[in-house]
Amino acid sequence: MLKTTLIAAVFAATTTAHTAAWTAEGMYCSLGNTTTSTNLNNNLPVGPLYNLTKADWWFQHERGCDNAPPPENSFLEIPAGGTFTVELAHNRAQTSLSYDGKFASDWPDGQQHPDDMNAPPGGCVPDGALHTSNQSYAAGTAFAISYESDLSAVTMENLAVFSVLEHTPWKRLATYSVPAAMPACPEAGCTCAWLWVPYHCGQPNMYMQGLKCKITNATSTTPIAAAQAPVYCREDTTKCVKGAKQMIVYNQLEGNNVPVTSMGPNGWWDVPMYNEQCGFSTGESLSWPRCCFDGLFYGRDTDSCRLKVRKTTFLSRRPRLPPDKT
Ligand SMILES: *[C@@H]1O[C@H](CO)[C@@H](O)[C@H](O)[C@H]1NC(C)=O
Ligand SMILES: *[C@@H]1O[C@H](CO)[C@@H](O)[C@H](O)[C@H]1NC(C)=O
Ligand SMILES: *[C@@H]1O[C@H](CO)[C@@H](O)[C@H](O)[C@H]1NC(C)=O
Ligand SMILES: *[C@@H]1O[C@H](CO)[C@@H](O)[C@H](O)[C@H]1NC(C)=O
Repeated sequence: MLKTTLIAAVFAATTTAHTAAWTAEGMYCSLGNTTTSTNLNNNLPVGPLYNLTKADWWFQHERGCDNAPPPENSFLEIPAGGTFTVELAHNRAQTSLSYDGKFASDWPDGQQHPDDMNAPPGGCVPDGALHTSNQSYAAGTAFAISYESDLSAVTMENLAVFSVLEHTPWKRLATYSVPAAMPACPEAGCTCAWLWVPYHCGQPNMYMQGLKCKITNATSTTPIAAAQAPVYCREDTTKCVKGAKQMIVYNQLEGNNVPVTSMGPNGWWDVPMYNEQCGFSTGESLSWPRCCFDGLFYGRDTDSCRLKVRKTTFLSRRPRLPPDKT
């Protein structure tokens, strides 16, 4: 009886929910929006940010998550030059962190899906909270870091994107690579954010969720450069911003920092995303310039921007999607 109620509750939450990066350590709002919250069936941090003032979207202030830090000395550990894994899911109940993981599956919604889950051309996968047609169209998610321990000292300029994972969110487990040149955090830790801007399939919103984090195994002592706003560079990769970049602020009342008004050759409006179209890349270095790397729709090419021509060809073959539902 308890189990039936719980499953119903989880499903109910899923229909209105989206996605967050769940971690055993360091996560804000993990059990709710107070430091004494205990909701194992929590979906508060998964919701999107859309058309909000900066004060409201910044670390999910509008739902109180910025005031629900993890317990003292709880940090997401990020190994310099290594990788770390989080659980992308629509509810804490669908992760290993709640109910001994019995409602978790390989997927963010706790359900089973074929590995090549793919909507009919122009459609979106049944798990609408993934905001995509298939894995190759998943826009990419990212982590950013500020070397400020106190969330109130974090700014757009001191919060730099350090890892991008293309073709996510997709499966529940997501492993991000970390540049080797990340310096150590202050004793009281760093402040991190998980980030996502979806590519069509649903409301054109963005995601920003807070964590307390620490760099382990650091050997570099060179601080991260001040982060600059990314520039949308699908059509001209020479415009990609090199080096440390800010998070993307998209479709908010305040703070939008990557103006994009173009339409892609496929008939979809262009969206600034955490992938090569803004000059972001997987496991990106913070200190040295790269241009096109692992991209949204292409294989790995770490040494040049030669894929530009192929990219244009590929994009022009993509079919049109129906207008987004908001
Ligand atoms: C965004 O919010 C403003 C102010 O609340 C409102 O006037 C406007 O209609 C909203 N726009 C959208 C697209 O929701
Ligand atoms: C905390 O979350 C609840 C929903 O669980 C919401 O009703 C409440 O307004 C939130 N508190 C703040 C301060 O945003
Ligand atoms: C830490 O660095 C050492 C040497 O560079 C490496 O062998 C080890 O695997 C690293 N540990 C982690 C957790 O990444
Ligand atoms: C993914 O979906 C898009 C949009 O429907 C489609 O154009 C593309 O061919 C699909 N990709 C794969 C690998 O099926």
